[in-house]
Amino acid sequence: LRTAAVIPAAGRGVRLGPGAPKALRTLGGLPILVHAVRAMARARAVSVIVVVAPPDGAAEVRALLDAHGLPETTDIKVVPGGPERQDSVRLGLAALPDDVDVVLVHDAARPLVPVETVEAVVDAVRGGAPAVVPGLPLADTVKSVDPDTGAVTGTPKRSLLRAVQTPQGFDRAVLAKAHSSVSGEVTDDAGMVEQLGVPVLVVPGHEEAFKVTRPLDLVLAEAVLARRRV
Ligand code: C5P
Repeated sequence: LRTAAVIPAAGRGVRLGPGAPKALRTLGGLPILVHAVRAMARARAVSVIVVVAPPDGAAEVRALLDAHGLPETTDIKVVPGGPERQDSVRLGLAALPDDVDVVLVHDAARPLVPVETVEAVVDAVRGGAPAVVPGLPLADTVKSVDPDTGAVTGTPKRSLLRAVQTPQGFDRAVLAKAHSSVSGEVTDDAGMVEQLGVPVLVVPGHEEAFKVTRPLDLVLAEAVLARRRV
């Protein structure tokens, strides 16, 4: 049985400023998506990758990936995505081959995740955990607020919090059930699995697995890449 990675890459990247969809913007001369696909393909366990392209951009993304000579040991499919991240992930899951039993979901917007982090997530799922997320302690203190008034409603103890990243890894059946039965505002896949009452395990994340969201993140990503190349 095989391990697959679904890469949602259908976001427009509004917070990054005007331009192409985020996954198609370049980092070190290569599209962010190409970095993300390579990061997944580098993990020995991953033999299938489903890239979820912008709804009207599947042909463009296919051509882009073909132009960058991706590893032949990995089976790469491209499918069109949907309006919200969770729609895109669901469409990606629907394209998985039958012989896949472990699924990683990895944001295209985290192009620099190290292979060690990917493998730690796969190993934990293969070791029996139904859902695994990489996470890091927070530098900032976090407050909940009333969005209408700005009044602080609480300060969760920082030592109990983790900022979670991707790839998030799942037993395929668990993730499929979550996507077919959970709805509402959820910003990650593990959050849907939690709503089923299934335990989710956090393993150490990595600073370089940060999400490229705002313009400053691109500056940081270029610097990380440059450091890797020396
Ligand atoms: O918007 P956010 O930063 O949470 O997006 C995380 C990932 O989900 C990105 O890689 C983005 O391309 C993807 N996404 C998607 N379909 C959407 C919205 C976001 O595949 N409709």
